[in-house]
Amino acid sequence: MKENNRSKFASKIGVILASAGSAVGLGNIWRFPTEAGENGGAAFILIYICCILLLGLPVMISEFLIGRHTHANASTAFEQLAPKRKQWRWVGRLGVLSGIMIFSFYSVVAGWTVNYTVEAGLNRFNQMVGDGQENVYAQYFNSFVTDPIMPTLYLVLFILLTHFVVARGIEKGIERFSKLMMPTLFLLLLVLAGFALTTQGAAEGLKFLFQPDFSKIDSSVILSAMGQAFFSLSIGLGCLCTYASYFRKEVNLTRTAGSVALIDTFVAIVSGLIIFPAVFSVPGMEPTEGPSLVFVALPNIFHIVFADMPILAYTLPFLFYFLLILASLTSTISMHELITAYVHETYHLSRKKTTYLVTGIVLVLGVLCSLSLGIGSEYTIGGLGLFDIFDYLTAKWMLPIGGLLTALFTGWYLDRKIVWEEITNQGTLRFYGFRVFMFILKFITPLGIFLIFLDQLGAFNWF
Ligand code: PFF
Repeated sequence: MKENNRSKFASKIGVILASAGSAVGLGNIWRFPTEAGENGGAAFILIYICCILLLGLPVMISEFLIGRHTHANASTAFEQLAPKRKQWRWVGRLGVLSGIMIFSFYSVVAGWTVNYTVEAGLNRFNQMVGDGQENVYAQYFNSFVTDPIMPTLYLVLFILLTHFVVARGIEKGIERFSKLMMPTLFLLLLVLAGFALTTQGAAEGLKFLFQPDFSKIDSSVILSAMGQAFFSLSIGLGCLCTYASYFRKEVNLTRTAGSVALIDTFVAIVSGLIIFPAVFSVPGMEPTEGPSLVFVALPNIFHIVFADMPILAYTLPFLFYFLLILASLTSTISMHELITAYVHETYHLSRKKTTYLVTGIVLVLGVLCSLSLGIGSEYTIGGLGLFDIFDYLTAKWMLPIGGLLTALFTGWYLDRKIVWEEITNQGTLRFYGFRVFMFILKFITPLGIFLIFLDQLGAFNWF
């Protein structure tokens, strides 16, 4: 289809780093250890990897080819490919809605990371406690996140940072930023993992991560693994479809998807390698700590484990939280771009105005999410506040549903010739596994997602 004068990523490495930048984020460093910790460690990780390979990768490749073929935002892309069945564009629209919801609650946590970086930089965590008691950090965390002012200010700061990069456009903003940030992030991650592996809990941490106990697996563990895979890969909502609309025709889609999935899984596992050895180094600390693992357990761990080395007790937490900021920014940038591209191209608003509009909407929703953890905590639906509702609905339902529909669209509806041409770059690349790929896309991926849903709804208990 037409290669209009739309912006493009300039280089192949820029394409990989920007897409990996979208995928790698709080999902890997904060959400993955939380989910793995709560769902039994190694067994969860195995199912997670199966979900990445059988459900995630095919959906990612589909998003890439839909985006690159149409050079359009997620909703228009479906509309162009299915002119007679306009309903398909709702897949794109559902994705944009998911993007708005994720961006809002995600920025809250991203804001916390800015606060924690500042606190670590001022050496506050080591000063907070003399006797290494964990509850000082728990108290600090609880009073911080429920405070109406400070988290809101950091959230606003974070969203404005995102705005600033997106406003500079694709090549000068998103690509340049990702090229700089992603290598920095890898380096920091490896340094931190190196230190974590020297702690006394390293052996137990490794066992927790790599020795599966299959008795821990039940339907909710499987749903969590699937949700985590979609969330972590940034798929099921058209985000990577939007990025692919800026890919040049030479980009190898399957190889890019493989690299992104590999980098993403690698970062998640390395984050586990940082966090679990550290957790097991402190008596009484459990990997099932939950979402506060990274914000409560870690400052305590750094403080205790490096008590004799004040320089490390000071620099490592600072580096860790700084790493979280970088990882989150490259992800929120991609969410912003997903929404901006849709609004800009659908409502013909100038890109600049659209960027402000999107920033404004997310600021309002983000502040509400943040307040829902504190002064707004009595406003709940089904016992969940806005922050938790957005997290639960998007990761566990909306993204897998989006992924299911995307797989059905590419597998069954889309002309097979288009799929072949995009995957092989008009026949110039070899792709031996095309039939296997189509089989997985048509049957395994949709059925897999569908069965996990049915199982979660208790369907298998009725018989
Ligand atoms: N994949 C990101 C992470 O793991 O932190 C989260 C994310 C980014 C989800 C972009 C959705 C999205 F569109």
